[in-house]
Amino acid sequence: MRVRTFAATAVRGLTLLSLLTSIASIDAHAQSGSDEGRKLFVDGVAPLPACALCHTLKKAGATGQIGPDLDDLRPDAGRVEKAMRNGIGPMPSFKALTEAQIKRLADYVAAAAGAP
Ligand code: HEC
Repeated sequence: MRVRTFAATAVRGLTLLSLLTSIASIDAHAQSGSDEGRKLFVDGVAPLPACALCHTLKKAGATGQIGPDLDDLRPDAGRVEKAMRNGIGPMPSFKALTEAQIKRLADYVAAAAGAP
């Protein structure tokens, strides 16, 4: 009897623990997603130039002056993605990046610029 109660308690405890662990990892994942977006924006992926070289984006600490100020433009993720894939005017295409990098950058820029 006593053993069974202990086992049931232990199982419940473990379930709770694994639930908490998975919540923590979802949170850590969301965090690293935006950290990675910022890093891609600031450092770029060689041999492509970094976005920060040409664009101002306060949250990234970027002060580039060649392209439009993204804090003023406030592009949504779709607009950022389109500019990256096709290039626009003097801005080169970034389609050599992976699908995941393009998405991450587009989401990051839209969020950091406060897209409506
Ligand atoms: C070599 C400089 C340069 C780099 C590097 C660069 N851009 Fe640009 N970007 C520009 C210029 C110039 C424009 C304006 C083009 C135009 O309107 O003719 C522009 C425009 C944009 C626009 C506005 C597009 C629109 O629809 O009007 C977005 C969004 C953008 N860039 C995001 C990025 C992101 C994200 C990166 C990094 C992956 C990046 N840019 C890298 C120069 C650059």
